[in-house]
Amino acid sequence: MNRANQNGPTSIDPASIPQRMLYTGVAMPAIGLGTFGSDHVTPAQVAEAVLGAAAVGYRHFDCASVYGNEPEVGASLEAILAGGITRKELWVTSKLWNDKHDEVIESCRKSLADLRLAYLDLYLVHWPFPNFHPPGCDVTSRSADSKPYIHEGFMKTWRKMEELVDLGLVRHIGTSNMTIPKLQLLLRDARIKPAVNEMELHPHFQQPELFKFVVDNGIQAIGYSPIGSPGRPERDRTPEDSTPTEDPVIVAIAKRHGIHPAVVCIKWAVQRGQTPIPFSINNYRANLAGLVSDPLSADEMREIAGIDRNCRLIKGQVFLWKDGQTWEDLWDIHGTITPP
Ligand SMILES: NC(=O)c1ccc[n+]([C@@H]2O[C@H](COP(=O)([O-])OP(=O)(O)OC[C@H]3O[C@@H](n4cnc5c(N)ncnc54)[C@H](OP(=O)(O)O)[C@@H]3O)[C@@H](O)[C@H]2O)c1
Repeated sequence: MNRANQNGPTSIDPASIPQRMLYTGVAMPAIGLGTFGSDHVTPAQVAEAVLGAAAVGYRHFDCASVYGNEPEVGASLEAILAGGITRKELWVTSKLWNDKHDEVIESCRKSLADLRLAYLDLYLVHWPFPNFHPPGCDVTSRSADSKPYIHEGFMKTWRKMEELVDLGLVRHIGTSNMTIPKLQLLLRDARIKPAVNEMELHPHFQQPELFKFVVDNGIQAIGYSPIGSPGRPERDRTPEDSTPTEDPVIVAIAKRHGIHPAVVCIKWAVQRGQTPIPFSINNYRANLAGLVSDPLSADEMREIAGIDRNCRLIKGQVFLWKDGQTWEDLWDIHGTITPP
């Protein structure tokens, strides 16, 4: 489906989209459009989706330099602003890539130039590991100089993130792919605390402890791969992975409401209190419309809470730093930071 046939009189009034209040008192739309083309959707297609999504009512866009399409997305943002939507109405996120932890200011300025913006609403450290790997590489790929998480190193990067706020280049800073022990150290040492943590969140990976931790600490949770990333690259698939949109509970609720199972995942996410950022070039209008249709009932929310499988899809294998490790080592599953 293209932009034209998702558009039209059925656009959704942005004023009806729920908002999340950040600890700064600034509001962020509770749904955004993801822009990672998963190595098979071209930058031009993503840019077209950004334009179309704004036309049907999206105001929040989740970008990153590593997605390789910020110049094209920037052209769309420029057109959206030229079309009369004001900069204050938009929420644009970008992210610092892993080989740029020592070049925070320069990387942010590059994203700003590519996105054709004077400031970002949110800039995230994409991963806590400063390890380079080429875009599109295989999961078995390891960089010879891969490093573990070293808190002092991360704080050097964070100090520069804080400087971006001081310089007025970004309004909020945040983290992504963090764990509770890493966030505890950051909250202890930060001058400007993270406003947001972006994390994988879908019905088969609900991360209840981390979700509660961020909420309890006044941090908003942005949920990535909210549909279970059905289009993710082959390198991010393992035989144990499950598919939330095929879960009988999700399918039954979808039938009851007359909507696609993907839309159930999005409704659940927003009603639970996180901010999903579904990627879509073909279904973005339906995903937004789902938010303003009949809510899921309390029973349906409880049923979905019961289907968590602790099934992480985006495992991060390329960040492992020594032989003999498994991807679980990246996620501090025993409650302490995995030692170097
Ligand atoms: N911080 C991080 O480390 C990180 C990691 C991963 C992702 N992200 C962000 O999160 C965003 C979303 O995650 P994701 O792209 O992995 O996966 P996702 O949003 O869970 O899934 C996207 C896929 O779902 C399909 N889809 C969307 N709505 C649908 C509907 N209503 N019916 C049927 N199919 C539907 C899309 O196909 P169509 O295009 O055909 O609609 C696309 O193939 C990314 O784009 C990126 O911005 C961040």
